[in-house]
Amino acid sequence: MERVPVCAIFPVMNRRQFLAASAACALAPAPGRAAALRLRAGPASVRLVPFVDGPTAMLGFNGATPGPEIRVRAGGRVSVGFENATGQPSAIHWHGIHIDNAMDGVPGLTQDAVAPGAGFAYDFAAPHPGTYWYHAHHRSWEQVAKGLYGPLIVEERDPPRVDRDITVVLDDWRLTEDGALHPSFGDRHDFSHAGRLGNYARAFFSAATVRRGDRVRLRLINAATARTFKVRIGGGEGGIVALDGMPLGQPEPVGEPVLAPPRRARRGRLGEPVLAPAQRADIVLDVAGPLVFDLLPRGQPYALGTIAAEGSNPAPAGGPVAALPPTPVPAPDPARARRLVLAMQGGAMGGRHGGDDFWAFNDRSGVGEAPWQRFARGETVRIAMRNDTAFPHGIHIHGHHFHELGPDGAPGPYRDTTLVEARQSRDVLCVFDNPGKWLIHCHTLAHQASGMKTWVEVA
Ligand code: C2O
Ligand code: CU
Repeated sequence: MERVPVCAIFPVMNRRQFLAASAACALAPAPGRAAALRLRAGPASVRLVPFVDGPTAMLGFNGATPGPEIRVRAGGRVSVGFENATGQPSAIHWHGIHIDNAMDGVPGLTQDAVAPGAGFAYDFAAPHPGTYWYHAHHRSWEQVAKGLYGPLIVEERDPPRVDRDITVVLDDWRLTEDGALHPSFGDRHDFSHAGRLGNYARAFFSAATVRRGDRVRLRLINAATARTFKVRIGGGEGGIVALDGMPLGQPEPVGEPVLAPPRRARRGRLGEPVLAPAQRADIVLDVAGPLVFDLLPRGQPYALGTIAAEGSNPAPAGGPVAALPPTPVPAPDPARARRLVLAMQGGAMGGRHGGDDFWAFNDRSGVGEAPWQRFARGETVRIAMRNDTAFPHGIHIHGHHFHELGPDGAPGPYRDTTLVEARQSRDVLCVFDNPGKWLIHCHTLAHQASGMKTWVEVA
């Protein structure tokens, strides 16, 4: 397999740093030479909150959160020398990649946890283009909440033409008044309710500015451990072209050309992407002004950040936003699909179940020795993901994507994480074609930690 260099850029705090990082990218070794990226997990001091003095003590990769953006061409390899300086065991999971099982980064299932002071060599092919991310997968409810994650972008071999390609990482944190991470990690109330929701949220952008008339690709990643982000994007309009890295057949309209003042007519308002923890959305839009990102909770919109508009593009792209070229994926065989039910159980107000922790799947909490199911490689499985609890859950299957099915059974988006609202059910259709041991869990990481996980074996 061809080896393509991995090019890392740092999350951008200002224009100067962005330009420096872009220059560094251009100097990456030529294809054919392996480029091992070093990712050192450890303490990071981050200017997280603009309105408090001084940085927040967090965890990061190479001293930053989000960690370096890893970029690789589809079909290329990612080689990472992981060093664990967190003082706790850890491991890195490459979320959404149809990865070689041994590189999936799940302690106890695919590897041993990496001891403090030790390292691990990750080396894997990234077959499908799209927006992915990496994150800690040991005590993830704490390590991810402290900042151990970063973007992993797999570029198309022939990328659609845009003027800027901008990564937008969304997260929230529970902070004390002086901007420190609140020490309530592992709080039992969080575990049995909605997880560790933050009291401060923001977006990290990989670019500080755009031009009016630019056609930009925005890669939204929800890195939060518990919060679902419904995002309003003002200052441009276009379409969602991919979810969880995989192209949609038709772009879904999104954005609004001019941000409507509150209470004014909603003319021009289009769709607002909803991202459960771990979900991603790729958006292509035409810039009309500053790009303003707001979180839409129940009450007032909450400002996540703005990408400033400077100058104009002399030759705007124009025309409708086109669909991305489809990613070749295995065709499911719905008629012969094995049918299974994965019942989500437990939590506060959830009633009894047979597991021994707050949460369970099918009356079992945690992974246990034996898999929930064994599949023959290539088998199509239809799983009814039934939420019998009082909370929403975003369920992630490792190493695969699956079709969300509509109520009529028609295949919808091809995703790696599906959001199932309280007391709702969603069927998914998955071709288990990747051999190995694969975790299935809720990406509200406090739920995962207190029982809502299982695993399957594909052989
Ligand atoms: Cu994003 Cu098991 O993880
Ligand atoms: Cu959950």
